[in-house]
Amino acid sequence: MAELAGEVRFCDSSNEGDLMLTRNPVQSTSHLFTPTAGRSIVSMTGVIKNYGSQMVLNNINLNIQKGEFVYVVGDSGAGKSTLLKMIYGEEQPTRGGVEIFGNDVVKSGFDKNQLMRRKIGVIFQDLRLIEEMSAYDNVALSLRLAGDAAQYSGQSIAEALSTVGLSSMQNKKVSSLSGGERQRVAAARAIVRKPEILIADEPTGSLDKDHTWNLIDLFQKLNLKGTTIIVATHDREIVRRIRKRSYILKGGKLVMEEGICLF
Ligand SMILES: Nc1ncnc2c1ncn2[C@@H]1O[C@H](COP(=O)(O)OP(=O)(O)O)[C@@H](O)[C@H]1O
Ligand SMILES: [Mg+2]
Repeated sequence: MAELAGEVRFCDSSNEGDLMLTRNPVQSTSHLFTPTAGRSIVSMTGVIKNYGSQMVLNNINLNIQKGEFVYVVGDSGAGKSTLLKMIYGEEQPTRGGVEIFGNDVVKSGFDKNQLMRRKIGVIFQDLRLIEEMSAYDNVALSLRLAGDAAQYSGQSIAEALSTVGLSSMQNKKVSSLSGGERQRVAAARAIVRKPEILIADEPTGSLDKDHTWNLIDLFQKLNLKGTTIIVATHDREIVRRIRKRSYILKGGKLVMEEGICLF
């Protein structure tokens, strides 16, 4: 892959100086957090995904360790959402292997995948909220649909909404909330079960700067507690300020894997 690096120039170390001047919401060394050695939580081997005649993912190999925080970066249409869908089981590869929590999700049956998905929280790019329901009920419904309602009290839902700063809005209908508030409802729904893996697909797209950094801050705090975080983004500012290991997609190909990437 090294020979492609010069060609695509996603990572530009000449921006290093900028980093010294930018605000980092968590003044932490969380990028130094050491994942549990050797415990792969997500792996893909030779993954190809075709939609009709279009090859959307072309020979993807990746390995994410338990406790890591990684970015999947690339411009719009690069295949980021498709790659994430393979991890949370919404799509299956046309060819290749996908292992989550050490289970082969291609070979395992639906029920097993369903079970695994309960350990994965997802902030969908298109949010998937029910407009006519309140913020609180959207979170509650996701627990009910997964058959988990009995395990989680109203207190857990209130806590998740409070974590994303929406306590005062929890009874408002989603249709009356702003884009940023909706995105935070989606985040509350993704974290209410305290998932082992949190997947966020362009989670800051409609957030203003403060809420963007609050959400990234939250990801970092969850990560410090051991949650594996996978964030797809085309937002170069986030990747430059909060430096993590990054997988860079271009035209469906993984063109670079960087320890710390400035994208
Ligand atoms: N369900 C689908 N059917 C057909 N084409 C799709 C589907 N989902 C994604 N694509 C195509 O796959 C490519 C990558 O899409 P996507 O994974 O959404 O990229 P990104 O998230 O990086 O913007 C795009 O060309 C998109 O049009
Ligand atoms: Mg996308």
